[in-house]
Parts: sequence; C-alpha cells; structure tokens
Amino acid sequence: MKTILITGAGSGLGKELALAYAEKGHSIILTGRRVEPLQEAQTLIKEGNSHAHVFPLDLADAGSVEKTVTAITKEHKVDFLINNAGAGCFGPLTDLSLEEINQAIQTNVLGTIYLTKAILPHLLLQQQPKIMNIISTAGQKGKVNESVYVASKFAVRGFTESLQKELEGKVTVTATYMGGMDTPFWNETDHIKDKSRLKSPKEVAEKIISQDSQQEIIV
Ligand SMILES: NC(=O)c1ccc[n+]([C@@H]2O[C@H](COP(=O)([O-])OP(=O)(O)OC[C@H]3O[C@@H](n4cnc5c(N)ncnc54)[C@H](OP(=O)(O)O)[C@@H]3O)[C@@H](O)[C@H]2O)c1
Repeated sequence: MKTILITGAGSGLGKELALAYAEKGHSIILTGRRVEPLQEAQTLIKEGNSHAHVFPLDLADAGSVEKTVTAITKEHKVDFLINNAGAGCFGPLTDLSLEEINQAIQTNVLGTIYLTKAILPHLLLQQQPKIMNIISTAGQKGKVNESVYVASKFAVRGFTESLQKELEGKVTVTATYMGGMDTPFWNETDHIKDKSRLKSPKEVAEKIISQDSQQEIIV
C-alpha cells in the first residue's frame, strides 16, 4: 500500500482521487489551503477505515512548501505525489488582472515545481516512487480566452515530459490530460455556461486510477 500526497485534495478531482485511492487501502496526505474541506475529506476516508492526514499548504508560497514537506516527511514515507491543485484564469488577455495571472502561474507552474523539487529527494528513497501531474487538454492545444491558463498547463506538460526523461528508471512520472469536469473550478467564472454537462470528477478519477502506471493518461 502506498502513501499518496495529493494537492488540492479538498474539492473536485483531488478529493475524488483521495477517496478512491483510500478505498483501495492507500494512505492519503491531503493538502490544500483551506483546512475545512481537507478535514471533510479526511472524515470520509476515516469512515471507510483508511488513513488520511491533513497538511495545509499554499503552493504559491515556496517557504510554506519547504516547511510543509519537511513536516510531512518527518512523519510519513510518501511514495506517490499527485500534483492536482490548479487555479483557473479565463477571459480575453486584455481583461485579465495581473493578480489573476500571477495566481495561475504561481499555483499551476511554480507550485508544481516547488513541491516536486522539495519532495523528490524523499521520493527517490522509496520503492517504486511515482509522480502524477494533472494537466488538462489545455496542455495539448491553445484555446480562446484561456491564454494564461493554457500557458500554465503547457509549462506543466514540459516539466512532466522532461522529468520522465530525467528520472527514467527511478520514478514513474505520469502526464494526465482531461477535458472539462463539473467541479468548483468553474464557480468564479462564466467561461463555461453549463458545467452540469461536463464529466463528473468521480468518473475521471476512476479512469485515471485504472491507468496510473502509464506515462500518459488521456481521459
Ligand atoms: N474542472 C475542469 O474542467 C478541469 C479540466 C481539466 C483539468 N483540470 C485541472 O484539474 C485540477 C483540479 O481541478 P478541479 O477541477 O478539481 O478544481 P477545484 O475543485 O477548484 O480544485 C482545485 C484545488 O486546488 C487547490 N488550490 C488552488 N490553489 C492552491 C494553492 N495556491 N495552494 C494549494 N492548493 C491550491 C484548491 O483548494 P484551496 O482553495 O483550499 O487551496 C482546490 O482544492 C486542476 O489542476 C485543474 O487545472 C480541471
């Protein structure tokens, strides 16, 4: 059984991955900025008799990432990192505020890099370690009114493909691409008009888990 660190584990896809992996008997480290949703996920996992631990973490803050990784790895042997957390940034480029742009780049790109870099020495000490990066179809092609979000996901794709080569034979690194999901991701934007037509994150999580030893997953 693995110990799986999941970012953005209090909602959407991250929560569904946490619940589904826990159901298979894995131990889950739940991270995200807001403690309450993480504790709710923890309660659900414990009700199913699996282990879950909450570590609040703001990926946009490199200092917080370093400190939290030190605290986690003191107590747990993490052998699987899932970089799932992400921030949206939608609209014509001229309408985007610098704050929104910075938030998306800091969370999606720098957060993924900071956390992976901080935990990699620990991962390399484990048996058959894995990293999975949740990208998006936005990491495969450009889209109207998604320029910054797409730029952030292309960056994560490049990071992932490079680590696949750099860590070959040492760490299994998976790039995961999926289309729209009905999650709180769309709550603050009208970019998607009717999110109820999108896939459920539970269904996407199940498909991801069924293929999680591959280098590329397309849902
Ligand atoms: N929904 C879609 O249509 C869709 C499609 C393709 C790919 N994706 C990708 O799937 C991933 C999960 O998104 P989702 O749809 O499940 O949306 P979501 O429910 O909004 O989940 C995003 C999670 O990221 C966390 N997060 C955001 N900023 C953070 C930060 N600075 N530090 C730590 N955690 C942070 C949030 O928790 P806190 O706010 O508590 O920090 C939240 O739990 C993202 O990478 C997204 O880009 C989504």
